[in-house]
This record gives sequence, structure tokens and C-alpha cells, in this order.
Amino acid sequence: KKYFTNKFRTGYVTAKGVTMPERFAEMEEDIYNFEVCEDDVWICSFPKTGTTWTSEMVWMILNNLDFAKGQENIEIRCPFLELSTIFDHRENVKTIKNFDAPSFVLDSLKFLKDTKSPKCVKTHLPWVLLPKQIQDGSKKPLMIYVTRNPKDTCVSYHNHCKLIEGYTGNFEDFCKLFLAGKVTYAPFWDHILPFWERRDQPNILFLKYEDLIKDLPSSPTFLKNDLNDEQVARLTDHLSFQNMKNNNAVNYHEMVNFLRKHNLTSYDGSFMRNGKVGGASAEMSPEILEKFEEWTKENLKRSDFSF
Ligand code: A3P
Repeated sequence: KKYFTNKFRTGYVTAKGVTMPERFAEMEEDIYNFEVCEDDVWICSFPKTGTTWTSEMVWMILNNLDFAKGQENIEIRCPFLELSTIFDHRENVKTIKNFDAPSFVLDSLKFLKDTKSPKCVKTHLPWVLLPKQIQDGSKKPLMIYVTRNPKDTCVSYHNHCKLIEGYTGNFEDFCKLFLAGKVTYAPFWDHILPFWERRDQPNILFLKYEDLIKDLPSSPTFLKNDLNDEQVARLTDHLSFQNMKNNNAVNYHEMVNFLRKHNLTSYDGSFMRNGKVGGASAEMSPEILEKFEEWTKENLKRSDFSF
């Protein structure tokens, strides 16, 4: 508990070992019992590992590169299962006149249920908190998991928490929270490894952010589809960092503007920060870097996973 004193907007609970915003307790059972449709594609990830990038890529491929339809916000095209637990401004809502949050924010689960299949579903939930039908294998939708090295993820998450979760602490403290598994959806390794262990299941595709950066057109998501060379080139261009940053349909500008308007954020950057690999090392102190090394070694002792 000591970790969270006044540093974030919401309080936290631990659900099956996972740190979650308080409000998750109200949604946990409904998510567990959520009716899964096998026609859907699930985009699963720890936050800040390339979720939006992957969502846009998958949505575009599923929708035959319909760039006109793709101008609709990604929040609508690829609904976020547990969004209501994260974007919980009930305390602030009381003080904001004419609070005009759209339905996908206020009741994300209902919004998802009301969206017709086949659809994309976004979730940051780790395996143990996913709907029962997925965990017991009775429903097998295509699940695309994306991950990213923890140091860059941590730096990106720090900025994200300042932007969205009202974090007011410093970076060093945030790194300690990250390592201690005390940020939303942590522990980090407990998130990755259960998907890594299931990577050979036919309905699971495991991606790494670093591979997408190196060679996007060779990503398995591209390869598994019958796109011709021209389509691959168009999609690659559409998904470049600069184009994603400038694309209001994927940069959450409405949410960011809302937070700014109501003084709910302590960060003046944007959702798409710099999209680089390896930048974290320059931002972390030698002590924190060493802690990351030890923590990684310890957590991967019994796994063949590496970045
Ligand atoms: P940075 O904060 O390091 O820039 P998520 O969607 O899971 O929240 O991940 C956000 C991270 O993905 C951000 O990282 C963002 O810039 C990065 N990202 C989004 N689109 C990208 C792209 N086209 N190329 C590279 N990185 C991208």
C-alpha cells in the first residue's frame, strides 16, 4: 500500500496476483464470464508495448485496407475490454460539469458486447484474468500478443501514467514500482511468459515490438495474409511512426485533450512519444539499470524467452 500514497489517481487492488485499478473488482466476474466469439481477433499486451500499432495493423488487414473506414477512432474499431477500469474519473467526474465521456469509456464491457463480430478486441489483461472460455480453451479466437523489452516499456509507461493515470511521482520511484510489480497489469514477466509458453498454439501469434521496428513487412501478421507488394508498401507507410503520430484516429487526441482541458494530466507530450528501441538506457541511473538486469535474469531463470 505504501507504494501508492497519492501518487496515482486511483487506488489499486490485487487480482490473482495482478495489480489492477480498484474498479477492476467490480468488473472481474463479468470479464471472467464474458461470452467469447471465435470470429474475433484479440490484441493482447502489457501496456506500452505496441498495442495501438498492432491494433491498427490487424484492423487494416482484416478490413482489406479500408483507409476511409479507418478514419474512425481506434477506440471504436478495436474496443478495449476493460477500459472502464482504467479511465475511471468518477471522483473527478463529480467536479466536472457536463462530463461527456462516450459510452465506450463509461461501460466498455457493454460497448464491446454491443459491437458486432467479427471484430478486434483489445485487452491488457494477463492470461489469468482473461475470460474463462479462453483460459479453458473452449473458445479459441485468434489472439495476437505483442511485447517489448521492459526498460523501454517502463520509460514509455512512466510517461503514459503521467498522461493518463495522474502519476505525480518521479521516474526513479516509477521504475521501482515497475520492478516491484506495482503498476497496473504488473508483474511484467507474469504477463509475457504465459503467452510465450502458448506461442505454438495455432490461434496464438506472439510478436515483439523490436521485430516490428526492424522489419514491419516481414511481421507474421503481414505474411499470413495475401497482400500484394503495393498493398504491403501502402500499409507499411500508413503504420510508420510519423504517420501514426499524425493520425488522429490512433493517437487518442480526444482523450488527451479532455485530460488537458480538466487539468487531469501532468504530462505535456503526446501518446506517441518517440517509438524507439533502446532509449531507456540513457534515462535510467546505473543502479536502476543493474536492478533491471538482475530482475530479468531472476525471472527468466526457468524460461527460454529473451529479447
Ligand atoms: P514510446 O512511448 O516509447 O514512444 P501502446 O500502444 O501499447 O500504448 O504502446 C505505445 C508505444 O508504441 C509508444 O512508445 C508509441 O510511440 C509506440 N508506437 C506506436 N506506433 C508506433 C509506430 N508506428 N512505430 C514505432 N512505435 C510506435
